[in-house]
Amino acid sequence: MSEANLPYYRPDIGDAEIAAVTASLRNGWLTTGPCAAELESAFARTAGIRHAIALSSCTAALHVALAAMDVGPGDEVVMPSLTFVAGAQCTRELGATPVFADVDQHTLSVSVETIDAVVTPKTKAIIPMPYAGRPMNAAAIVEYAHARGILVLEDAAHAAGMLDRGHWSGTLSDAAAYSFYATKNVTTAEGGLLLTNDANLAERARRLSLHGMSRDAWSRYSAKGAWRYDVLEPGFKYNLPDPLAAIGVAQLNRLGAMLARREEIAARYTERIGKLPGVTLQARPENGGDRHSWCMFVMKLDAQEAGITRDALIETLARHGIGSSVHYIPTHHFSGYRSLAHAPLPNTEAVWQRLISLPLYSTMSDTDVERVIGVLAGAIVGSSSPGEAYVAS
Ligand SMILES: Cc1ncc(COP(=O)(O)O)c(C=O)c1O
Repeated sequence: MSEANLPYYRPDIGDAEIAAVTASLRNGWLTTGPCAAELESAFARTAGIRHAIALSSCTAALHVALAAMDVGPGDEVVMPSLTFVAGAQCTRELGATPVFADVDQHTLSVSVETIDAVVTPKTKAIIPMPYAGRPMNAAAIVEYAHARGILVLEDAAHAAGMLDRGHWSGTLSDAAAYSFYATKNVTTAEGGLLLTNDANLAERARRLSLHGMSRDAWSRYSAKGAWRYDVLEPGFKYNLPDPLAAIGVAQLNRLGAMLARREEIAARYTERIGKLPGVTLQARPENGGDRHSWCMFVMKLDAQEAGITRDALIETLARHGIGSSVHYIPTHHFSGYRSLAHAPLPNTEAVWQRLISLPLYSTMSDTDVERVIGVLAGAIVGSSSPGEAYVAS
């Protein structure tokens, strides 16, 4: 096949990001400094929230937030199994127990009903995850949790730009952990950010992210800084270096345009792929003020109706040079997590075997999008489009 590869993801890095990194490399700072401070204030302003802490990853943000919430031995933390392993990993690192809640088969996120099925008097926190950046009704989950004295930490890895009934992740809940990993809709190559309106949580999370020190490098080495500091408690080393933060500032400035392109592609996919036999899409957001961030586009495949299995379809896409992925292999299926007891997870078990994540990023051309649709249409039996006959233009 002579067609160029269409990868599963390609970051949208342009002149603005390159100029921002160059300026940051030239300003003589390099570690966490003015660019990280700018990223924090720009993100907080955009999200309409009081505190933002730039960190080395979303995993780091989940870890410091759970630690700042005093999650520890004897506590249970409720989360989906159909997500990335980071939340469960951080919970275990703190000596607490991950408890898996099933997902709603239409939204692919946990709901008040699935959470309620596994909450116990030991539940200290819930880590819901708006799957793919589809709003999950955080308000209902927060109301349920707070009525029981349970904290809510959103895993907002997919949620940059998402609006959940008009709100950014983290504004209604106790905190939200965003990811700036290379595949996300805002990237810093590797990076993350914790958003919260809780001043005490923010102060402790920031301290824990840098060894538990009373002052960070920015305040010790800047003109007004002083060399003296204390270490108030044992912490971690999770700060975001300035050249990476500089990429984030440039990305945030372009978020509106990048989201608009993602929306266009998602609309085209929805229109064309949603009609193929055996294909169901994630439920559309249904409330006023909702905005999907389209961090991912997922389809669910019924092998019988489609005449092709999920794995064979992934192979067909690959043969045509198109990358795809599966989000996620459920956490409780992994060797290192199999020993955790869990309630039945019927939707998770059924749905993950049907999921395929398709390429969706702002640098995709219309031809790229048609190419994906054409190959899918050709591979799915009963589809009227002659996709296998698709020829690159
Ligand atoms: C849902 C979810 N949570 C957490 C993470 C971890 O993000 P990071 O790589 O920034 O730690 C990811 C990353 O892919 C993710 O998809």
